[in-house]
Formats: sequence, structure tokens, C-alpha cells
Amino acid sequence: MLNFDFYNPTRIVFGEGTVAQLAQLVPPAARVLILVGGASAEKTGTLAEVRAALGARSVNVFSGIEPNPSYETLMRAVDQVRGQDIDFLLAVGGGSVIDGAKFVAAAAHYEGDPWNILETGGAKITRALPFGAVLTLPATGSEMNNGSVVTLKATQTKLPFRSVHVFPQFSVLDPTKTYTLPTKQVANGLVDAFVHITEQYLTYPVQALAQDRFAEGLLQTLVEIAPQAIAAPEDYATRSNLMWTASLALNGLIGAGVPQDWATHMIGHELTALYDIDHARTLAIVLPALLDVQRDKKRAKLLQYAQRVWGIDAGSEDERIDAALAATRHFFESLGIPTRLAAYGLGTAAVNAVVGQLGAHGMTRLGEHGDIDLAVSRAILEAAL
Ligand code: NZQ
Ligand code: ZN
Repeated sequence: MLNFDFYNPTRIVFGEGTVAQLAQLVPPAARVLILVGGASAEKTGTLAEVRAALGARSVNVFSGIEPNPSYETLMRAVDQVRGQDIDFLLAVGGGSVIDGAKFVAAAAHYEGDPWNILETGGAKITRALPFGAVLTLPATGSEMNNGSVVTLKATQTKLPFRSVHVFPQFSVLDPTKTYTLPTKQVANGLVDAFVHITEQYLTYPVQALAQDRFAEGLLQTLVEIAPQAIAAPEDYATRSNLMWTASLALNGLIGAGVPQDWATHMIGHELTALYDIDHARTLAIVLPALLDVQRDKKRAKLLQYAQRVWGIDAGSEDERIDAALAATRHFFESLGIPTRLAAYGLGTAAVNAVVGQLGAHGMTRLGEHGDIDLAVSRAILEAAL
């Protein structure tokens, strides 16, 4: 096991009817800015429920945070925070809104150009406004981690940042708030959570026995609940398991003391920035191809994954790995998420464009060994055609 320093201060308030607890969770004298995306928070009644719970507090709302939140939109929220002397943020939505709140919290009093937050991956953040979240889309784990991804639309640059200062103080996870999700967003959530786990698990062994078993259990849970999560939007037990599994997939626990890959995400972010493909769908395209191209570097963990997650233990090593990759691809496709670039109308021109963007963004030494250079990224994208 590698050295690690695990820290996660986010309080999770879980269960049906927990939005009302905002009355206790948000400081009574707070000047609150609620951040939402498009129409869903309003249409589903969640925004009204949040407002009611906040009672007589000073409350303003900023709406319009788009999926894959843009720097340009978020800077308008920063202006509102500064102009209205806001001292507490409350994100109500999915990963885009929560990521947006993290950026606004850090940018509100940032010394210098706020885009520098993305350029430096959050390293220069020294403080941030306190904020909480009400999660309405289980997928990213943003409700319980200190990461965020923001896009500068002007240059199609989508970059991550993280900082110890941008953990949510609390997140309210009420599974009934996911009942209104479109099927495609539920499918996205299952795949995003799945790939968060593989980024922290399908690398190389470091005798992290607990993290491996934990990661394998989360993967098996996602595979087990997926059909019901799609088929029965109001199945409370299934949505509870989806919500909590997605949070545990990226709250730091399974990633403590183990090597991490993240190349699938970095390549996927470029596909989203260039072609506006949903985040999770870019992962479904890249992961199977990346595991195939990197199979020799990942051999031990791929065989363990085949056996422990998919029950595959017959045949040669490569036959077992092939079967595990096929099972992974089939899982994504069974959720209605295509895994080939061609299914999104993309071909060699897109491979060239993504490789160009990876180079422009310094993404030239990706993966747990830092060995995925532009040539390997090209091979991965070509394997995904
Ligand atoms: O915009 P609104 O009206 O809110 O509609 C949203 C949005 O259109 C809708 N929605 C959300 N909750 C709903 C709902 N519709 C009906 N009922 C509800 N209860 O769903 C759409 C997608 O929402 P979004 O927040 O964009 O999706 P997701 O949660 O998948 O977040 C994706 C973003 O998270 C980033 C991605 O890069 C992407 O920008 N990620 C954040 C990570 C992190 N912070 O750790 C890690 C991830 O790997 C990922 O990169
Ligand atoms: Zn993700």
C-alpha cells in the first residue's frame, strides 16, 4: 500500500425528507446564494422545498449553470456573490451545479485571474466560501469530494481542479430527488461512477486488500442495481444504493494508498469539450479501448477484475481479459450508451482533434505510470473507432 493522507470533512445527511434539515445545516444568519442549473430544480419542486427549509434567511438564486459548467457562466455568479455580499453557497443539482459552486466558492475572493484556478489545478487556492449541496443526480461524487471540472467555452478547454478548501460542508442526499431523472442521466450516473472506481482500481497491485475488495463491491453493486435503476425510477431502495455507491466511488476512500489512472477521464474531457458528448458517454467510449491497449501494464488487476467482478476464471490470461473487456462494453451498451466513436458520428478527424487538444493542454504523460503519451492516446482513440 502507498503512503496516503485521507481527509474528508463533508457531512452526509441521507434519506427521504432530509431537505428540511437545511434549517439546521445552514447558518441562521447566512446570506445564501442558491445555485441551480436549468429548469429541473424548479420544475421538480426541489427549489421550493429548499427555500422553505431556509426560512427567513437572506436568500438569492443564481440559475443557468449548464451541464459541463462554463467559466463564463460561473463568473457571472461570482459577480453576484461579490455584489450581494453573499457568505454561503448552496448547490442544488447534479455534478455540474456542485462543481460550479466549488469554483464560485474559490473564485469569489481569489487573488488574481480566477482562470488561474484551473491553470494551476487549484494549487493556489488558499480559502473559499463555505457551501453545501442538495444532490439531485447521483453520478460524479462531487457531493462528497474536493474536485471540480470547469470549461472555458472560448477555447473549448475543460480542466479539473481540486483543493482541500472546496469540500462541501455538508450534502443532503435524498433518493426521492432522483425520481424525476431522465433515463439517460441515470445511465450516465451508473457509468460515471463505474469508471471512477476503475480509475482507482484497474492499475497495478500494491497489496491494498481492503481498497480492492471495497472497489470490487462497489462495481458489483452498480452492475446488480443497473437494470432496476433504469426500469423503476421510484424504487427507493435501488435509488438509495445508486446514490450512496456513486458518492463512495469518488470520496477518497477507495483511492487512498493506491495508484490512480485517470487517463480515461482526461481523454474523455477533451471529447466533451470538442463535441459536447455527455461526460459519462465519453468514458464508455474510452475505457474499453484504453484497457485493451494498456492490458500488459494492467494485466494483474485485469485478471483480478475478471474473476472477482465478472466471475471469469476459465481460459488463458488473454482470453479472460478479453471476456472481461467484452462484459464491460456490454454493460455500458446495455444501458443504452454506445462505446464506439462511430456511434457518435466521429472518426479519424476526431482522433486527430482530440490528440491535438491533449497536447495543447499538457496531457502528455497520463495514467498511473505517466506513460500514456500522445502516441498511446492516439492508439486508444483509434481502438475506440
Ligand atoms: O440543468 P438542470 O435543469 O438542473 O438539468 C440537469 C442537467 O440537464 C438534469 N438533472 C439533474 N438533476 C435532475 C435533472 N433532471 C431531472 N431531475 C433531476 N433530479 O441532468 C442534466 C445533467 O446534469 P449534470 O449536473 O450536468 O450531470 P452530472 O451530475 O453527470 O455532472 C456532470 C459534470 O460533472 C463533472 C463532469 O465533467 C461534468 O461537467 N464531473 C465532476 C467530478 C467531480 N467533481 O468529482 C468528477 C467526474 O468525473 C466529472 O468529471
Ligand atoms: Zn467522471
